[in-house]
Amino acid sequence: MAEKVRDEVAREVEEWVSAGNPRPGLAVVLVGADPASATYVRGKERASVEVGIHSETRKLAADVTQNELLEVISELNSDERITGFLVQLPLPDHIDEDTVLHAIDPNKDVDGIHPFNMGLLLGGTPRLAPATPSGILRLLAEEGVGTSGKHIVICGRSNIVGRPLAALLLRRGQGGDATVTVCHSRTTDLGSFTRQADILVTAMGVPGLITKEMVKYGAVVIDVGTVRVDDPSRERGWRLAGDMALDVRDVASMRTPVPGGVGPMTIAMLLKNVMQAARLVDEGARK
Ligand SMILES: NC(=O)c1ccc[n+]([C@@H]2O[C@H](COP(=O)([O-])OP(=O)(O)OC[C@H]3O[C@@H](n4cnc5c(N)ncnc54)[C@H](OP(=O)(O)O)[C@@H]3O)[C@@H](O)[C@H]2O)c1
Repeated sequence: MAEKVRDEVAREVEEWVSAGNPRPGLAVVLVGADPASATYVRGKERASVEVGIHSETRKLAADVTQNELLEVISELNSDERITGFLVQLPLPDHIDEDTVLHAIDPNKDVDGIHPFNMGLLLGGTPRLAPATPSGILRLLAEEGVGTSGKHIVICGRSNIVGRPLAALLLRRGQGGDATVTVCHSRTTDLGSFTRQADILVTAMGVPGLITKEMVKYGAVVIDVGTVRVDDPSRERGWRLAGDMALDVRDVASMRTPVPGGVGPMTIAMLLKNVMQAARLVDEGARK
């Protein structure tokens, strides 16, 4: 499915450039040398190039000052080759995440987390929606899993997954109209909620927390959690694990794997956002 979305974007890029528009460009700002973040950034870079999107990574030292980082964001806001960019999270503790994210031009905010884009999303008219929730909706649609009238339980309330996913599912019409419950670390008796879910989405980053006793028979389960866990049986010494224990496969009617599943869909939907941002930036320039 991710490949199908990437092919769609490649065609859109081709048509856009053939019509005389500048090639869309994605920049990723990476602060520090966290290996997992560096891997994600390389994945985004490779996927962009494959669909014909110009790609740049701005690597900054872990001790970069907030002002220096804001300076880079200001440059990217006015760089005509860059139609969309994102700051890879998490940021080091000495940098205020909100100040940085609020400095991004909302038309170039391909992660969809600037308050302007979040506001549109919450109001039911998303423009640039975060890639992971968009990828989940696309997965469900491609599999013919309807959301109308379904009880969808989301475990996790982050700004990039749980919160925007809830807003998308609450919209009226196709891909929305769900009854949504959002759980988090202060939820009492998590299982009493997850067991009610027709569709269960987990985005906690707690490997194996959800076991088959916590899932209704026949539920569709979407596992967003992606955490490195030690695995001495592998040469590299680790593997990626999701929030769902393996036994969930005994009760779920459909399930996304980790690795795979939501991860590749997220990257594919990010590329869609870069193309969407190219159109927004172009409209802005023509006004
Ligand atoms: N595959 C992908 O493309 C992709 C994309 C994004 C994220 N991820 C993965 O998804 C996971 C979540 O990331 P994130 O950035 O969305 O989340 P995050 O900011 O780390 O937040 C985790 C959320 O899970 C909740 N939580 C933690 N422990 C819990 C527990 N024991 N019971 C119930 N809720 C619990 C937290 O509750 P509180 O709010 O109360 O702290 C919080 O809302 C990570 O493993 C991340 O790597 C994968």
